[in-house]
Amino acid sequence: MTAPRFLRLADVDVHGKRVFIRSDLNVPQDDDGRITDDTRIRASLPAIKDSLARGGAVMVTSHLGRPTEGTLTDADSLAPIAARLGELMGREVRLIRDWVDGGPWHSTLMAGDLVMLENCRVNAGEKKDSIELAQKMALLFDVYCNDAFGTAHRPEATTHALARYAKIACAGPLLAAELDALGRALGEPRRPLVAIVGGAKVSTKLTILRALAEKVDTLIVGGGIANTFLLAAGGRIGKSLAEPDLVGEARAILDAFPGKVPIPTDVVCAKRFAADATPTIKPATDVADDDLILDIGPQSIAALQRTIATAGTIVWNGPVGVFEFDAFSAGTRALATAIADSSAFSIAGGGDTIAAITQFGVIDRISYISTGGGAFLEFLEGKTLPAVAALCERFTEPPRSLRTN
Ligand code: 3PG
Ligand code: MG
Repeated sequence: MTAPRFLRLADVDVHGKRVFIRSDLNVPQDDDGRITDDTRIRASLPAIKDSLARGGAVMVTSHLGRPTEGTLTDADSLAPIAARLGELMGREVRLIRDWVDGGPWHSTLMAGDLVMLENCRVNAGEKKDSIELAQKMALLFDVYCNDAFGTAHRPEATTHALARYAKIACAGPLLAAELDALGRALGEPRRPLVAIVGGAKVSTKLTILRALAEKVDTLIVGGGIANTFLLAAGGRIGKSLAEPDLVGEARAILDAFPGKVPIPTDVVCAKRFAADATPTIKPATDVADDDLILDIGPQSIAALQRTIATAGTIVWNGPVGVFEFDAFSAGTRALATAIADSSAFSIAGGGDTIAAITQFGVIDRISYISTGGGAFLEFLEGKTLPAVAALCERFTEPPRSLRTN
């Protein structure tokens, strides 16, 4: 895998320039709009701080959720995000509505100023990657900086078309760091390369399972995905979450890569999907018709620990059990701890995975935490991320005058 070549923010002279930063500030919120995890906001600070420190005027935008274009509802507003960014920056961050055509906020913007531009996915044409919208937005600034790794798999106006129409288009430090770390893990990985793909559905991750099975030495499956593989291997799963339609696909992977995809040999079952359901450990062969598999058992955990302990590189997306329920969290906890203890270069990504890592207190012992969910998976799959492709297409050696060193 050759490293993508694009202009980086650090190589752009932003002094006295207006810098438009497209971040991914699409953070989880509770029903009252309170931010439940601000990792993406914190990860987006370096681009903003660097631009301000070097004398730029910064406008930062992001999408939040999947709003209807043309109407900004309260629930879609970046107001809580602007407030949190303000707290983290120690200054007020003004939030600008209806910003595409500029206005007084724009004409008065000065070096050192920082404003947030409302949910860019509300703008008509954003999702369709509209050239007209991009051309309009490009008039607002001198430098376009895409720092939104989590949205790099979406060809939208602020992530894709803008890279073509901006005078200067560069990648921010978060986007660049993600690509560096993921490229390092998958480009020339230290072997054995172990991937763990858990989560509910095979259907959303089938192509990645295939692509990973080609690349890795061991592919550990977990959650509903493992159940589908258990079925494919001729096992019983009771009324556990699985996708019987995809058993054929799972079997094809098992047949094509013999020995690479270990199947759990024991499991933790319950009769109900509830935090207070009674957990029962049993061999995978003894699962009853009314059982729900909610975690992997101790024997499977021990096997997984042995695999992780000798790995050179580990890539992790998705839990192996219902870790939100204490009684069914042992598998995911053991996995998180084994990855933290291992000397392998480890990368983890995806909302549930980060939540598990945080819950088990190992966040500082994972080599790299990706802010991407879908983008992380598409990268692992070997797909070209449209936002990155657009930056690469724009890439020319930066003229001397633009270099800072
Ligand atoms: C994410 O949370 O996965 C990214 O911010 C992309 O959001 P989307 O799936 O709504 O495009
Ligand atoms: Mg998503």
